[in-house]
Amino acid sequence: MNPKIWLSSPHMSGNELKYITEAFDTNWVAPLGPNVNGFENDIQTYLNEDRHVAALASGTSALHLSLILLGVSQGDEVICQSKTFSASANPIVYQGASPIFIDSEKDTWNMCPVQLEIAIKDRIAKGKTPKAIIAVHLYGMPYKVDEINKIAVKYNIPVVEDSAESLGSQYKNKNCGTFGDFSILSFNGNKIITTSGGGALITKTLKLKEKAVFLATQARDSAPHYLHSEIGYNYRMSNIVAGIGRGQMTILDNHVAKRRSNYKFYVESLKNNEKITFLQEPKGYFSNRWLSCILLDSKETREGLRLALEKENIESRPLWKPMHQQPVFKEYPSYTNGVSDELFNRGLCLPSGSNLTKNELDRIISAINAYFVT
Ligand SMILES: Cc1ncc(COP(=O)(O)O)c(C=O)c1O
Repeated sequence: MNPKIWLSSPHMSGNELKYITEAFDTNWVAPLGPNVNGFENDIQTYLNEDRHVAALASGTSALHLSLILLGVSQGDEVICQSKTFSASANPIVYQGASPIFIDSEKDTWNMCPVQLEIAIKDRIAKGKTPKAIIAVHLYGMPYKVDEINKIAVKYNIPVVEDSAESLGSQYKNKNCGTFGDFSILSFNGNKIITTSGGGALITKTLKLKEKAVFLATQARDSAPHYLHSEIGYNYRMSNIVAGIGRGQMTILDNHVAKRRSNYKFYVESLKNNEKITFLQEPKGYFSNRWLSCILLDSKETREGLRLALEKENIESRPLWKPMHQQPVFKEYPSYTNGVSDELFNRGLCLPSGSNLTKNELDRIISAINAYFVT
């Protein structure tokens, strides 16, 4: 059996250990320290906008804190892109609020502005203005930022930008992670850079960052003893983990370039296969191509190909199953147009790691070609 090819595996730069060793040498083995501050500064510099970054334990905790800071509570409604990973929606339920799911459009596979406005009007007519809109740049492809923001402004609803998969992507030359009232990043093991697990909340003011850090460190009021007037969370990133992040930030642009070149390789190698299509970048969009995805002509071909790759020890995965189809979220309202269901049926994510070798890429193409000739 050939060695396993993973969908998206961690890829270290070699610089990580320097920061981790420094943390040990100086005894900063805690959820604070120079690597935490340094990692936050590195991300702030990279984003290149007037934003503030709080390093946290995960992208999910960043989403949760953003909803808390927006005052989302029991009985509220929060709009969420249906085609996403469950972590985009779970924090809505943590707060006792209801997710309202919105289908995708075909140009970016992200939140459909038409369905979004239909949903907002309908929710208002039913008596509740949604408290927030969670929009996701899926697989690194930016969502329709201008269109979504325009609707958000029109109805005065804040946007939480789920940029977990899109660090390094741009929309009209501005970095993803800077478009929301709050934005979040993930450094989970499969992301474009990883800290093994981790995330960040991006805020527009220092005051909001400070409030997020306060909540993330058990909401300790200023007093010589432990004093609490709010419920807190243990959501801060550790100084060791942030050391990995500092090392990873030194090669983020290389990872983006490599993932984009994987995508180009797939397009080029499969261009004569009429059963396979790709999502193109619309004008003004720059995707980090976190995952290279293909659409097959049918669900049967998609599943057949997935199993054929599995036989060759190559991991691939159907595109996200929409949240409105998930057993745990089925009862919540959804505004659908069939797009995300079709993408789920026909879409497959191919191995996309920045550490894929030419040999591995050739193996994947051979396996795909072999499936279509048999
Ligand atoms: C779109 C999306 N949102 C949120 C998350 C949650 O991030 P984390 O795993 O760091 O909690 C992830 C990835 O895991 C994701 O892909």
